[in-house]
Formats: sequence, structure tokens, C-alpha cells
Amino acid sequence: MNSKIQFISVWSPKGGVGKTSLSINLADCFHSYWGWSVTVIDLEPRQQSATWIHKRGKLPFPILTGMPNKKPQAKLAVLDFPPWMDDQLRVYLNLSKYVVIPIRPSALDYAAITQAIQDYQIEQESFEIIRVLNCLDSRRSEERAVEHTLKQTTQDKVAVVKNRSIYPKVIGLGLGVFSAKGEVEKSNNQQLYEAQAEIDSLARLINVR
Ligand SMILES: Nc1ncnc2c1ncn2[C@@H]1O[C@H](COP(=O)(O)OP(=O)(O)OP(=O)(O)O)[C@@H](O)[C@H]1O
Ligand SMILES: [Mg+2]
Repeated sequence: MNSKIQFISVWSPKGGVGKTSLSINLADCFHSYWGWSVTVIDLEPRQQSATWIHKRGKLPFPILTGMPNKKPQAKLAVLDFPPWMDDQLRVYLNLSKYVVIPIRPSALDYAAITQAIQDYQIEQESFEIIRVLNCLDSRRSEERAVEHTLKQTTQDKVAVVKNRSIYPKVIGLGLGVFSAKGEVEKSNNQQLYEAQAEIDSLARLINVR
């Protein structure tokens, strides 16, 4: 049993905001780019998307369905949460130093997440919170305005992940953007490199040694 394993939670009270996509791509960055042993733990009780991706059989790291009884043999475990919180999930969240919170770039989502962080007492004293503005379309002024507000108003770390068709494409292949190298058509390579760069920037905010 590796007692030094570190947990990273990817959580939002909202559905469909990119928790699973970011969990897989972060783990893929740590493993395929940085060379670390990593596992994803799929905490969804139903519609286990991460487990579905894993069943495609190509990911170079394991995905466990549900929290195992023994700590996994890995340096890092990325916890892919369902879009809610309860007492059991809170116990799992409390294992983590880092909480990655994807946010869609809309004023309503921004307000809802800010409220949820308060309601669930996910405080800076206890966690390092990284808010990820996910699916940003920077041609849209209202989305740029949310990016601006977020960067001006929060003390949390902020990362931006753009809206790119390469993300669902690669997930559909059962891969992340790093392990998909050589697996997508050459015309997608530019998108793939840009996606790798933004996931790497996000991963660097997670200061695990
Ligand atoms: N940056 C992005 N650009 C384009 N599509 C994205 C991006 N991030 C996620 N998606 C797509 O959005 C959809 C929802 O993402 P995902 O399943 O990761 O969300 P989720 O928060 O895990 O959802 P749930 O709450 O149901 O677990 C997926 O089809 C995913 O591929
Ligand atoms: Mg999910």
C-alpha cells in the first residue's frame, strides 16, 4: 500500500460541465506526459462515463469504479465526482488537497458555482481550489466577460480550457489528449497540441511533487 498517494478531486454541483473529460485529460497528462503513476477513481454511482472510456481499452492508466478499500498503488489518484455532494462524497473530497472545479463560461453558472462553493464550505483554508473555465469560446464577448470577472474576483487559481472538438473526439476514441498522439488524423494535430498545452498549464497549477 502506498501511503503517499495524493488525491485530486474534480467536482462541480453541475452536470455536463467537463468533470470526466478534465479528470481523464489531467490523469493522461500526469501519466503520459510527466511519467507519473496515476489512477482515476470513478465516483459516479450510475452512468459511469470514466469507466465507459476505460472499457474502450486504450487508456494507459487504470480507472477504478468506486473508491477501493485499499489505497491504490499510484502517486496520484484523480477523483471524478458526480454532480452533487453528500456525506460519503464529502469524506472523499476531504482526502484531497486540490479541488478542480470546472465552470461553464456563463454568468449564471459562475454565480451558481460561487454559491455552491460557499454552501458546501469548500474553503481555501482547507483546499487549494482551481477553477477551470471550461469550453470557453473566446470569440464571444459574454464569455470573455465571465473570464474577466472570474480572474478579477477570485482568490482561487484559474485555468482556461477552450471549447474544442478534439476533446469529445479523443474521449470517443477512449483516450486523453496526450495518449491520443498518433491516433488522430494529421489534420487534428494542431488542435491536439493546443489542447495538450492547456491541460499541461492546468496540471502545473496542481503543485504535487
Ligand atoms: N473543453 C471542451 N470542449 C469541447 N467539449 C468538451 C469540453 N469539455 C468537455 N466537453 C464535452 O462535454 C460533454 C460533457 O463533459 P463531461 O462528461 O466531462 O461532463 P461531466 O461534468 O463529467 O458530466 P456529468 O455531470 O454527467 O458527469 C462531453 O461530451 C465532453 O466531451
Ligand atoms: Mg462525469
